[in-house]
Amino acid sequence: MLITEFLKLDHARIRKLLEILETAPGKNRSSEKVRVTAVVRELTALQRVHEAIEEDILLPVLEKRGAEVEPRVLEEFEAAHKEIWKRLKDLEVCVLQEYPMNTIARSLEAYATGLRLHMKMEEKSLFPLADLVLPKTESERLAETAKRREVAVLGAGMAASQ
Ligand SMILES: [Fe+2]
Ligand SMILES: [Fe+2]
Repeated sequence: MLITEFLKLDHARIRKLLEILETAPGKNRSSEKVRVTAVVRELTALQRVHEAIEEDILLPVLEKRGAEVEPRVLEEFEAAHKEIWKRLKDLEVCVLQEYPMNTIARSLEAYATGLRLHMKMEEKSLFPLADLVLPKTESERLAETAKRREVAVLGAGMAASQ
């Protein structure tokens, strides 16, 4: 598996969790609140390790091959990550402080919109770029490192690639 294939599996899992949250019926019922809170926790844990893998494992390797990478693409990527961390923190605060469900829903909407755009951007520009500049064996090695990190953080059952 290439590192980009691994990251796309994460994206698919993230999209699924966003859909579960957005279609949760009767968000004001307390039983639903418990379920929404659990999904938000799963989503934020996955998102956190996913973005960290991109920042710590993928980006440094691409930067090392800087001559072939368009600086604009990397700048966009870093700016989007900063914004996502901010929105993710906001969502976590809403959930941990048990804010009303409509406040959580608003925060979730802002987070989901930014996140979907970001994943699309990565899949359109950053991942094809990675596939272009990384030799297959290096990309596979990065995927193995990423997988180990995800399993260590989330546990085998929660990791998207399992
Ligand atoms: Fe990202
Ligand atoms: Fe991503």
